[in-house]
Amino acid sequence: MRISVFGLGYVGAVSCACLAKLGHTVVGVDVAEEKVARLNRGECPIIEDGLPEIVKQMHAEGKITATTDAAKAVNDTDVALVCVGTPSTPSGGVNAKYLEAVCKQIGELVRDSDKEFFTVLSRSTSLPVVHDRLVEILAESAGCEMGDRIGYVCHPEFLREGAAVADFFDPPKIVFGATDDKSAEVCKQLYPGIEAESFFLDMRIAAMVKYADNCYHAVKVTFANEIGVICREMDIDATKVMEVFCRDRKLNISARYLRPGMAYGGSCLPKDLRALLDMSRQTAAPLPMLKGVSKSNKVQIEALMKRIISPDRPRVGLIGLAFKEGTDDIRESPMVTMVEQLCGKGHPVRIYDKHLSVQALVGANRSFALQSIPHLAELLSQDLQGVISESDVVLVSHKLTPEQWASIKWRDDQRVLDLAKVDELRGAPGYQGLYW
Ligand SMILES: NC(=O)c1ccc[n+]([C@@H]2O[C@H](COP(=O)([O-])OP(=O)(O)OC[C@H]3O[C@@H](n4cnc5c(N)ncnc54)[C@H](O)[C@@H]3O)[C@@H](O)[C@H]2O)c1
Repeated sequence: MRISVFGLGYVGAVSCACLAKLGHTVVGVDVAEEKVARLNRGECPIIEDGLPEIVKQMHAEGKITATTDAAKAVNDTDVALVCVGTPSTPSGGVNAKYLEAVCKQIGELVRDSDKEFFTVLSRSTSLPVVHDRLVEILAESAGCEMGDRIGYVCHPEFLREGAAVADFFDPPKIVFGATDDKSAEVCKQLYPGIEAESFFLDMRIAAMVKYADNCYHAVKVTFANEIGVICREMDIDATKVMEVFCRDRKLNISARYLRPGMAYGGSCLPKDLRALLDMSRQTAAPLPMLKGVSKSNKVQIEALMKRIISPDRPRVGLIGLAFKEGTDDIRESPMVTMVEQLCGKGHPVRIYDKHLSVQALVGANRSFALQSIPHLAELLSQDLQGVISESDVVLVSHKLTPEQWASIKWRDDQRVLDLAKVDELRGAPGYQGLYW
């Protein structure tokens, strides 16, 4: 393909050289004349391991050129990769002025050309709302509908500076969020020979994947450092702790605990987090992130309460009270907190939990249950349909069998709030997923 790359910074320079290496003919575009001149001399405009050699070779083979003339670049190519900067605004938002300017410029150039179709891929990191705006700008400046003569793809970049060339040829994943089928077809030809899982997603989801990634990386670094802080107080080698932590690929370095859903609870997570936070108070070793975790968990419950409380629908039914399915352990279950708060506000509550009966509860579990909800026995019922029939809002935190879901008779005026991502519930009237 003939590809123009707008912005010859870290992302653009790597993209130029490596796309050329894959066999494409690439034209780099930048407003900075020095960067353009360097690339045209076969020199690398940035310092990046392994990149100068590729730039030199691709320049010698005539596979990359550079220009400050956007019109020439658009005319000579069919696809543009936009890699301009998206710095922060004073309030921390995305300053999209460079992105917007480039999209407007490309749109107008396409409008004034005789091109049948031109695809714009944005590698710059920006929020979904910015991509929405860029699509509007492109359609308006090109004077056509998206997918007609111009298409747009949110194509986030996951490379790490210092390992950017290696990451380009062996990426962790490839993500595309295209506005139209023609652009999606272009995406399929962009990386010949590169083996990585590719995702064709809704544009806004594609944009959010990048933010989820980078926020997670920031959380990981901070988490490891807070474990470091508290270990240091106890004269424990944190690198050894984290080394063993990382060897656990089943629960730690895995997809476990990473699905959006109900707040955490149970007999261990809240208790053990409290112990570290108590230690941090005693030793004056601040752990702001871990402290924030506990606060954030409470916010989840508060937000859920706000979603369900309504004077028009006072009666609340719960399917599942234990903190996890397949157990009768209700210690520190977030659903118990919900019941406490709902009862406190005078909402009639009914609970179905097939593993739970007050008579069978023993030990700490029983004390917790009766301390939190002294009249729990009155709220519990083994009659699933009865609980649902007597409720205006049904909160589902456990999965039931397909037969049980199929047997339920919902009312049209009911609201069903799914906290457990139950596929069988999707058709229920008034269905709402927690985060989906
Ligand atoms: N640096 C990274 O490791 C990395 C990784 C992934 C994603 N990203 C994202 O990629 C984007 C680019 O990052 P970067 O670090 O390469 O930025 P950068 O600041 O190094 O480079 C941006 C380039 O765009 C050029 N530019 C500005 N306006 C232009 C215009 N109208 N036409 C042509 N060129 C123009 C600038 O002169 C500059 O050379 C950002 O959104 C960033 O968040 C960066």
